[in-house]
Amino acid sequence: MSLDQNKIAEDLAQALRAIESASDLDGLKQVKIDYVGDKSPLAKANQALATVDQSLRAQFGKLVGAARAEVNQAFEQRSAKLSALRDSQMLLTEKVDVTLPGRRNLKGGLHPLTILTNEINDLFIGLGYKVAEGPELEAEWLNFDALNIPADHPARTMQDTFFVEPLESKLVLRTHTSPVQIRTMLNEKPPIYVICPGKTYRADELDATHTPVFHQVEGLVVDENITMGDLKGTLDFFAKSIFGDQVKTRLRPSFFPFTEPSAEVDVFFNGRWIEWGGCGMVNHKVLDACGVDTKKYSGFAFGMGLERTLMVKHGITDMHDIVEGDVRFSQSFGVGKK
Ligand code: DAH
Repeated sequence: MSLDQNKIAEDLAQALRAIESASDLDGLKQVKIDYVGDKSPLAKANQALATVDQSLRAQFGKLVGAARAEVNQAFEQRSAKLSALRDSQMLLTEKVDVTLPGRRNLKGGLHPLTILTNEINDLFIGLGYKVAEGPELEAEWLNFDALNIPADHPARTMQDTFFVEPLESKLVLRTHTSPVQIRTMLNEKPPIYVICPGKTYRADELDATHTPVFHQVEGLVVDENITMGDLKGTLDFFAKSIFGDQVKTRLRPSFFPFTEPSAEVDVFFNGRWIEWGGCGMVNHKVLDACGVDTKKYSGFAFGMGLERTLMVKHGITDMHDIVEGDVRFSQSFGVGKK
């Protein structure tokens, strides 16, 4: 390849024009490849120096070298200018308005059932009760037999109870919180004053009034001279604390294997009688099974559903609202308030 002075001057001028007309860093990158890098005309001219006649080599070498230096310098200057431009644009577009109000997330809160459970616990702790708990996976004997529920009782059948495999394990998902009564009496000596809230299970479909996983609260008192009057007074106090001072309570005769006599407790709320739970004097057979001296002690017990209590108290008509976790439901119970 032969070198010619005009060609070098032209290549230089072209490179300088290209550098000057690059409007952003991306454009300049391509200009670098075309006019500054190894494949640019001036780089090629530089390589061609080797082929130039010895006598002209120094002269052309200077020329090409000066042209390349000028291109490099122009390139660096343009690059610095475009970088500064990009930075200042970025500052504008990525500007943060520190005066804007912050975005707030909803504050979490307790589920209404938990709130109710805490309320009930507090209430009974205030009366001197202890909170007792038992396992949800319960021995069949504690869930049924010790509570005087015989083997042929309908509540034991497959339709109601979740039995746990292998069946020889004799374990069930507890169908009520009453086994905690037994556990307490087996572990502690009277006087006993306990409240036992917890999860319970029955093989029901979820519908407006049923859910296979629900909650109950159980009360148990065993002491000297405990009478049905104590039971009635306690339930009345309980009902008034939960539903308001205006509610009335009544007991209706009923039957439960673990209490004798047994009753249903109703509350008069919003103009009508509503069935709230079961109760009674602890059956002597149950006290005997737990080794409690029935000559000295007597007791009462009660048990009610917490979902039902919540539904009555707040006029909730669909169980789905309680179990589905829709935040709009929880918000009406204070979730998300600041
Ligand atoms: N365990 C009963 C049930 O789930 C409710 C109940 C009734 C509990 C009477 C009691 C009671 O402690 O005395 O249906």
